[in-house]
Amino acid sequence: MRLIRLGLFLVCAMPAVMLVAGLFLGNLGVNPIETLLNQSGVWALRFLVLTLAVTPLRWLTGAVWVVRLRRQIGLWAFFYAAGHFTVYALFEQSLVLATILADIADRPFILVGMSALLLMLPLALTSTQGWIRRLGRNWKRLHWLVYPAAVLGLVHFFWIIRANRWTEPLIYAGLVAVFLAWRAWRRRPVIEDRD
Ligand code: HEM
Repeated sequence: MRLIRLGLFLVCAMPAVMLVAGLFLGNLGVNPIETLLNQSGVWALRFLVLTLAVTPLRWLTGAVWVVRLRRQIGLWAFFYAAGHFTVYALFEQSLVLATILADIADRPFILVGMSALLLMLPLALTSTQGWIRRLGRNWKRLHWLVYPAAVLGLVHFFWIIRANRWTEPLIYAGLVAVFLAWRAWRRRPVIEDRD
């Protein structure tokens, strides 16, 4: 398991390493900051969708061990989302709170992205064994927030789609819809036929 975790760590860190290396080597295209911003956002969403895929994958395959990788994948989603926000705040807004607030008023999709990140924050903070123990049953309730976070991330993505770039967001939206529907179906009350 430790080897699988290490392998997962290296795979998940790869996009960040490539982006930072690309920045220093100057091969992130004509607008490196835009590439950094968009790529970190897309990777945040990809890892978020992957986190949601873990439970259906366990149900489908019976492989219980995949659940033990969920925490790491979720933390990577948060890492890329936090990096995405840092790139935005630092390079687009020069860390000036007033301009960030003005931008929120001007471009509502920014508010949607921020809401997604804010929902992800308590999930990342309470992902440790200690918090799982402390929160008990409420831990599962709290971590259900991963679904609205993913939906908000998707809305944020759809809001800024440029021409002919529908395929990727549509795939993620389809996956999230399937995972949500499956969850709801698994939780349905079983009505017994008493005749
Ligand atoms: C504080 C939070 C956030 C801010 C301020 C923010 C801001 C931005 C900005 C300025 C862009 C570029 C828009 C453009 O090119 O016109 C962007 C793109 C994007 N963001 Fe965010 N975002 C935030 C949170 C998130 C989160 C939490 C996710 C995912 C879960 C996310 C996913 C994306 C995606 C997928 C894109 C599009 C990338 C592309 O066009 O290739 N963002 N965001």
